[in-house]
Amino acid sequence: MALVAASRRLAQVSLREYSRRTAAAAAASGAWLTGRRSFTAGMQPLRSDNKVTVHFINRDGQKITVKGSPGDSLLDVVINEDLDFDGFGACEGTLACSTCHLIFDEDVYKKLGEVTDEEMDMLDLAYGLTETSRLGCQICLTKSLEGIVARVPESVADIRQSQDGSS
Ligand code: FES
Repeated sequence: MALVAASRRLAQVSLREYSRRTAAAAAASGAWLTGRRSFTAGMQPLRSDNKVTVHFINRDGQKITVKGSPGDSLLDVVINEDLDFDGFGACEGTLACSTCHLIFDEDVYKKLGEVTDEEMDMLDLAYGLTETSRLGCQICLTKSLEGIVARVPESVADIRQSQDGSS
């Protein structure tokens, strides 16, 4: 009996000591961060309202609706949402492949901003180039792009593979 009571007392002391050490460690490393994190978590709905909705039309015609943060590129959105567009974004946004080719409606295309010479050079190598084609890695989301539709072309060209003869 005395052994059980001693074990309980030891467990309580250990628990108290653990709590005290955890609190001290949190204070030493910036306890305010913990409070800030919970404040941010409480703001989640507000942050989500700040997202931009993007509709992708996949190669098979399937419409996929996702959200991205302002400042994210469309390639970021595809990666963050784990969208399965075969071969998309092969150079990871370094403007070396054109596999992130997307096609937009004309009204959306006009909102996307200027095309740089470097992007134009890569676009010239894309399969199925249209007047309203852009590279997804070069398009950054803004609130004015809310609800845009981006069509993934039927096929992709990765210039890097053509150059090294691997495909
Ligand atoms: S991901 Fe390669 S050019 Fe955009």
